[in-house]
Amino acid sequence: MTSSSTWITLCIALVTLYVARCVVDDRRTKSKYKDVVFVGPTGTFGTPIGFLQLLFGTRDFIQEGFEKHYGRLFAIPTLFQMTFVISGPELIDDVRRASDDQLSLYGSIKEGMQTDFTMEPHILENPYHFKFVHLSLTSNLGGRYPEIHEEVIAAFSELIPPTEGWTTFPAWFTGKHVVLRVVNRLFVGPPLCNNPDYNDINDAYSDALVKTALVMGFTPGLLKPIVSTFLDSYIPKTLRRAMEHIGPLVEERLEKERLLGKDWPGKPNDLLTWLMEKAPQGDRSLKAITIRLLATMFAAYRPASMALTQALFDLATFSSYISELRDEIEPIVKEEGLTKESINKMYKLDSFIKESLRLRAAGKSSMPRKVLKDFTFSNGTTILAGSTIIAPGYAIHHDARHYPNPNEFDGFRFSRLREEQDDPVRHQMVSVGPTFIMFGNGRHACPGRFLVSALLKTMLAHVLMTYDIKLEQEGVRPADKWYTFTPAPNQTAGLMFRKRAT
Ligand code: HEM
Repeated sequence: MTSSSTWITLCIALVTLYVARCVVDDRRTKSKYKDVVFVGPTGTFGTPIGFLQLLFGTRDFIQEGFEKHYGRLFAIPTLFQMTFVISGPELIDDVRRASDDQLSLYGSIKEGMQTDFTMEPHILENPYHFKFVHLSLTSNLGGRYPEIHEEVIAAFSELIPPTEGWTTFPAWFTGKHVVLRVVNRLFVGPPLCNNPDYNDINDAYSDALVKTALVMGFTPGLLKPIVSTFLDSYIPKTLRRAMEHIGPLVEERLEKERLLGKDWPGKPNDLLTWLMEKAPQGDRSLKAITIRLLATMFAAYRPASMALTQALFDLATFSSYISELRDEIEPIVKEEGLTKESINKMYKLDSFIKESLRLRAAGKSSMPRKVLKDFTFSNGTTILAGSTIIAPGYAIHHDARHYPNPNEFDGFRFSRLREEQDDPVRHQMVSVGPTFIMFGNGRHACPGRFLVSALLKTMLAHVLMTYDIKLEQEGVRPADKWYTFTPAPNQTAGLMFRKRAT
């Protein structure tokens, strides 16, 4: 056979296997769950047809299920099997209260990111690097705020030098690089945080992870080890490049420790130090440290840079908010400067960013959990081990029951609620609950959200005080791009800046 006919035969075999697997799973699932509604095409080939409709965006099963069956569990077709969607505050609260050995976030990340093939097989058995985000960053945010502020100013003035006339800058590229640089200041410190090659590696590694995970997700289990050897050569190559940067830094810090003692003056309190000192003994090799650094950056920088880019697009689109935001920010900065405490007082700015997150950042599928033990919800429905549960993030954040005029950008929606209810905590960006699950909910709620809030508020406050900003085409907000369940800001559009005209 010629090589092209071999490929065609292989493809036909794989598609046949896939369809057969879906059909069997579909029948098995429907016979097991008598009290769960199935949304999507019925019949023998329901799952593969439904998956194709999902892939090409011709139907939105999650939204359909949310509207018709609010408060219940419903099932939708996804790649290989039915996925269960929870809706309504009670069921979301059931997930929040479930233990990790019943409903597992890491189990779903392992499957979604195919970590056995893209990272390290044991990385999610002990994700201590995630805990270090909380210990090294969140609980130390006040102490590290001056570095955040300094890096924000440096990053913006390098990427967007203020000019008298309007100049266009690529929005996504700029947002991404500001966030990479500032977050790396907290992960590895200067000067590496501003090394373009190191920041590009972080970006490229995340990109390679997503693409490889996608292909591996499509590959049947038995073929995964073979397919992965063809696919992931880019990941080890990128990892090696990262190790070339981290290696000398680790050596330099160890040398200082040898010469000046364990608590040498100026010793950084960053993620790298935590990984070098607090990772389990067998996990302190250069490779292990570098993988954990890159894996944490993967969790951190993509959602944060998307949020920054979207908030900048919103600032330029809804420019009538600019003067009121400046009126809030300027007296505070004049009085106290930009500090961790002073940004906490900027609740209109907090509201503006939270509204941008609510409207733009919620994926259709949120809070994924792998069911490790059969789990019974408070309404009596039992989901069997091996299944996957998700929450309908986009639908929840666009639900008129909780957000009047849900599709409208109302930048002061949350600050008005704060004033009306005289409640300074409940409506801020970092507060999670069943109707705002942008950062998840419960034990696994994003530990980086306090940092994200500080970063985004500092960045927007800096932009508002330093620049004027507008869209390239007046009145035309660059359209978002959807990757099946996940939204992303427009990645090619520009934004126009000039030095603020006072
Ligand atoms: C706008 C930016 C961000 C968004 C929208 C976001 C959202 C989320 C969500 C939805 C989860 C899963 C929660 C759940 O399923 O219950 C999560 C987990 C996590 N996020 Fe974030 N995140 C952001 C930024 C960051 C940053 C900057 C960091 C680190 C500095 C970070 C570190 C983490 C970690 C370590 C976890 C895993 C938590 C665990 O182990 O339980 N995130 N994030």
